[in-house]
Amino acid sequence: MAFPLHRMRRLRNSEGLRRMVRENSVAPADLVQPYFVCPGSGVENPVSSMPGVSQLSVDKVTEAASRAADAGVAGVLLFGIPEHKDAVGSSASDDSGVVQRAVAAIRKASPSLLVITDVCLCEYTDHGHCGVIEGEQVANDATLPLLAEEALSHARAGADIVAPSDMMDGRVGAIRAALDEHHFEELPIMSYSAKYCSGFYGPFREAAESAPQFGDRRSYQMDPANSAEALREVELDLEEGADIVMVKPAMPYLDVIRSVKDTFACPLAAYQVSGEYSMLKAAAERGWLDESRVVAESLLAIKRAGADILISYYATDVATGAV
Ligand code: PBG
Repeated sequence: MAFPLHRMRRLRNSEGLRRMVRENSVAPADLVQPYFVCPGSGVENPVSSMPGVSQLSVDKVTEAASRAADAGVAGVLLFGIPEHKDAVGSSASDDSGVVQRAVAAIRKASPSLLVITDVCLCEYTDHGHCGVIEGEQVANDATLPLLAEEALSHARAGADIVAPSDMMDGRVGAIRAALDEHHFEELPIMSYSAKYCSGFYGPFREAAESAPQFGDRRSYQMDPANSAEALREVELDLEEGADIVMVKPAMPYLDVIRSVKDTFACPLAAYQVSGEYSMLKAAAERGWLDESRVVAESLLAIKRAGADILISYYATDVATGAV
């Protein structure tokens, strides 16, 4: 006898009612905007597979970040495109590298903005892998001190949060130990804990110039078929000292976001990656989808699945209302 006593439509009949019973929302304070920092000054290099996204030199990224800050965006996430690449990614821990200089410049210009740095070697190695190579393998343990050095360099530059994305085992612990040893015990780590080996990173690799020159990342990033394994990854990262954990990509892994949220009482980030952005952009450019509706809907889906922090190339556009 549910109907006609109960009518679900009653609470949908006006915006006032819908707003009152709305369960989830996306606020600028939930959003993080990624940027690709490149050498030079006055440089804005459009990324062809990500319309609206450019590689930006330090001065330009500082301007863009202050627009993000004005819109109330919580933070920015920085990736570096260095001048020089080599086999061990040495420029990753160069205190005068593009990311290190951008951190300092953004902190100065926009003190309210959180500056998060991506800690990984793939943008800095000439082979494009996220660690050092021994034989045909990405060597786990030999990579750890290099990641710790990179994180320390970001810390010295003034980063508010460091975010390791390499997927080496033990890297959160190695970074935590190095930070603590150098008196950065209060600096949080946001770990890319459940990072899948995803085709949706395609456009990023053009943006960050980080495509692997041989092989792929299957020996260190997660198999898309797995979900229980994501919980183990998160558990281990928390044990090693991660403060915030992440699931990446977002939309194809909403089930994983939900199970991490239900299992662990810690802040959870989700990354709407380059391919997710490019799909929505491409369909919008063709007039096939209404961009602002589908962007809002996709971010809401990620929030509803359980993410607290949304990393998205749309962050500033959503916060300003441009999209
Ligand atoms: C670096 C890294 C990648 C992304 C974030 N950090 C690329 C990769 O693992 O190949 C992808 C982000 C995106 O696609 O937007 N390891």
